[in-house]
Amino acid sequence: MKITKEEQDILDGKHGSAAKKSMEILKALGEIYSAEKLIPVSSVQVAGVSYHNLGDAGLEYLEELAKDGKIRVRTTLNPAGMDLKDWKKLGISDEFAKKQLKVITAFEKLGIEPTATCTPYLIGNKPKFADHIAWSESSAVCYANSVLGAKTNREGGPSALASAITGKTPMYGMHLDKERQAQITVNINAEIKTLDDFSALGCAIGKKIQNKIPYITGIKEADTDQLKIFSASIATYGGTALFHIESITPNKTLIPEEKTEITQKDIDNAKKSLNDNCEIDFVAIGCPHASIDELKQISKMLEGKHVKITTWISTARKTMEQAEKQGITKIIENSGAVMAPDTCMAVAPLKDRFRCMATNSAKACFYARGSNNFKTRFGSTEQCLEAAITGTWKEHW
Ligand code: F3S
Repeated sequence: MKITKEEQDILDGKHGSAAKKSMEILKALGEIYSAEKLIPVSSVQVAGVSYHNLGDAGLEYLEELAKDGKIRVRTTLNPAGMDLKDWKKLGISDEFAKKQLKVITAFEKLGIEPTATCTPYLIGNKPKFADHIAWSESSAVCYANSVLGAKTNREGGPSALASAITGKTPMYGMHLDKERQAQITVNINAEIKTLDDFSALGCAIGKKIQNKIPYITGIKEADTDQLKIFSASIATYGGTALFHIESITPNKTLIPEEKTEITQKDIDNAKKSLNDNCEIDFVAIGCPHASIDELKQISKMLEGKHVKITTWISTARKTMEQAEKQGITKIIENSGAVMAPDTCMAVAPLKDRFRCMATNSAKACFYARGSNNFKTRFGSTEQCLEAAITGTWKEHW
């Protein structure tokens, strides 16, 4: 990989130890993936923010970097393990909170905005078409590549951080147009309308094609929230960082000859596979973080009602503040549901607190089962909130 004089200076430690360490990470990555050179990025999203996942070793690494490191491009943060201001209401201990706040302080020292959301594109960090960026967080990566037409590999926390500090990323994979072409045509022969339909669709396609890039036909329309939840589940169950949807997404691609189909049966099976036979004791909506439109819909469903089961609505703090101004959060909180900004059901320390979680997100099911050992119920937003209000889950098939 070609290294410029400026990059060599960074490698030689002339810009401090954080920059040196970061450049070493990017050089090693570039060499592994045979990148020709490093290229500038215009935006970074860093995952690996929850103390629950980082532990003390991660915190120490960040504090070391923050001693002399500074970011060079706009950088935002993934969700943390708690509401950063009012963690007590989520049942988070002060001991955990103390460590989590230290993590945030280290990121802030580096110059990173403590946005704590997996939907940076909804709160101002929205790259333009063809921008080279370095994002971690698989759902945001998939959304940025596919819906916004920006270009990013699926970075890990440390490599995204290295890009933030150097302003560069190795040019390989998703940064190259030839690597962004669809590899399989997937025709959808099913009714896909609601958020849970899109989430189940991502799960069904992901399981079928793994990490191939699909060219999807048969979807007539999809709004931002539907594409957001679809991005999260296809990236989780398949591992792809990019999809194309005919007449909906902006990237140009060759149309692949290899074909497959998703039927109504595949969607129903995906939904059934996310449903365990369990009595719910937790309802979690907002994976990925809920948009202002979703919050509005949730408030309409909860208005004048009272939830019997612990219910979290995860969102970005900025989105919540917008909702507060419109009186939306008050309606949600009056129902007994809890606003959970800055965090989510997957990165908060929830193990052993619940046994059976209801959600409208296939990705949330994946992490609830994998990391927290919960059983899951999957359905529409209405179905989940109805269950929160009545205390029982109603099958809809
Ligand atoms: Fe976001 Fe947490 Fe889901 S980070 S995509 S809400 S698992």
